[in-house]
Amino acid sequence: MLPPEIAAAPLPAPIEPTNVLPADEAGIARAVDLLRAGDVVVFPTETVYGLGADAANPVAVAKIFALKGRPESHPVIVHLADAAQLEAWAREIPDRALKLARTFWPGPLTLILKRAPGVLDAVTGGQDTVGLRVPSHPVARSLLDAFGGGIAGPSANRFGRVSPTTAMHVFADFALELPLILDGGACAVGIESTIVDLSGEHPRLLRPGGVPATAIEDTLGEPLGKPDAQAPRAPGSHAAHYAPRAQVRLAKRLEILDALASHKGRRLGVLALEVTVPRLNASLQRVVPVVAAQYAHDLYAHLRALDAQNVDIILVEAPPQSAAWTAINDRLARAARHAAEGETT
Ligand code: TXA
Ligand code: MG
Repeated sequence: MLPPEIAAAPLPAPIEPTNVLPADEAGIARAVDLLRAGDVVVFPTETVYGLGADAANPVAVAKIFALKGRPESHPVIVHLADAAQLEAWAREIPDRALKLARTFWPGPLTLILKRAPGVLDAVTGGQDTVGLRVPSHPVARSLLDAFGGGIAGPSANRFGRVSPTTAMHVFADFALELPLILDGGACAVGIESTIVDLSGEHPRLLRPGGVPATAIEDTLGEPLGKPDAQAPRAPGSHAAHYAPRAQVRLAKRLEILDALASHKGRRLGVLALEVTVPRLNASLQRVVPVVAAQYAHDLYAHLRALDAQNVDIILVEAPPQSAAWTAINDRLARAARHAAEGETT
């Protein structure tokens, strides 16, 4: 029995998300003030939420790394209001970049170009290239327009964790550590931008994402190469990324049913395709349609929700392998590899 004074004590009050503001005019004006003052601001993009700072201010960019717990050698993407600003950030703008910018910007595509003089080492990870993207989310666009400069912005999650697709995902990771989280609703795309390296002789795909690689190849009229030893490092392509706390295992439905019947003391969660699995509590399973865009939109929210149920293992019913699913399969494979390698970053 608890002593009466403890039993009667009220539960600790939940932390109020007082730093989460609607992304209206007042919210955006506050965000611009913070950016100008060298502080960080979380803002929605069409892919995932970004942890933004003035990309020209080394003190501000250092705050991003400290908050995320991200190694300093990892470059961050610079978000721009429009392609006309490319010249301030890249010293060479190849025709391929103009073609892709015209077709896919604003939108979920990041271009890696040779950096202009003066671009901070903190932004490029000390490399000779810089990652640039013009996002399409109306809040990101208003913010970039009002701010005027480039906004350095990795995904607003702790290093190596699942990217946030709502303002409350960000709050779940950082609580009141951040001065402002602009709430622009759920991100439409739901997974990160496609990254294409245009700094070398041939274009290369560094990360599949919101724009299908096939659409990029069609626009360029040439195939995208794979990263090789000469390609710029894209450290976010390491296995330790995009992983929930629970182990992730990709499995066929029959394997999932077997695992549910035979697991010993391990708490299982399931991300199922189209239909629920029988004999598993509703709170421990999530169902996604076999529609790539919808799946991408919901994926990180589902992984976070299952994680919050304190499951040991998330069994993910393996989605199709066709081109539309490349970016999704990429993220799931990383999350699963992370578990297999036992990394904890
Ligand atoms: O959709 C997105 O791209 C989101 C939103 C917020 O824009 N951002 C995002 O940032 O995913 P982050 O930092 O979580 O992932 C960016 C990836 C990392 O893998 C990083 O290594 C790579 O882009 N990257 C950035 N600059 C680079 C460069 N100069 N060379 C090679 N890779 C670069
Ligand atoms: Mg990230």
